[in-house]
Amino acid sequence: MTTLVTSPEHLTTVAADESLQPAINQIIEEMIAALPDPKTLSAEARRGIIARYSSVLEGNFIYWMTATLIATQSEDAKPILLENLHEEVRDSHPHMLRKFYMAAHAVPTAEDALAVDEDLMNVRLFLGRLSAVQSLLTMGFFEGYIQKFMPYLAKLAADQGSTEMEYTDVHGVCDIAHTAGLFQALASEMAVNPLGPGKDIFEGVHMLRALLEHIVYSDAK
Ligand SMILES: [Fe+2]
Repeated sequence: MTTLVTSPEHLTTVAADESLQPAINQIIEEMIAALPDPKTLSAEARRGIIARYSSVLEGNFIYWMTATLIATQSEDAKPILLENLHEEVRDSHPHMLRKFYMAAHAVPTAEDALAVDEDLMNVRLFLGRLSAVQSLLTMGFFEGYIQKFMPYLAKLAADQGSTEMEYTDVHGVCDIAHTAGLFQALASEMAVNPLGPGKDIFEGVHMLRALLEHIVYSDAK
């Protein structure tokens, strides 16, 4: 969900765990492939997905990236996260998202917020543990998913009659350096502040996946 400015040359300086990014990519591909065909969705179903997505993202993305920055110890990783946050704030991505959901007539209701409340709480509390490696992998997954989800979200909004697509245009730009930047930060952190024994590096990824799936499949809960 960012537009990191990170040179590709820099990204090759530290080798990440080579199994992590393919595993995350596979999860994202599974999730995107399973999305319901927009043609089968009612107007209310479309509105609900946009509203629940907005309810989660508008107030939490910057907060969660900030939590990840606070947890991170690697001096090489911090500038990557700071650049991410800089762009979020400078370009006011929450405002961009607000314009997007208002134009799609999908302002989140209390019911929309409550539909994802438990999963949202789980992710919040998880990131509050400030476990850097787990948080960085979770945010790398988040970035990658959002980028792949954007064409689908844009299609839902278009079917709602909206033409306001700045948010999805900005976040759907498939610049490989963005996700690579977070995996570079992860590799740097793993080198100086590795995850303790017995901990599941995918713990936050699984929690966030549950939240992202309930955004789409709220009625199936
Ligand atoms: Fe963003």
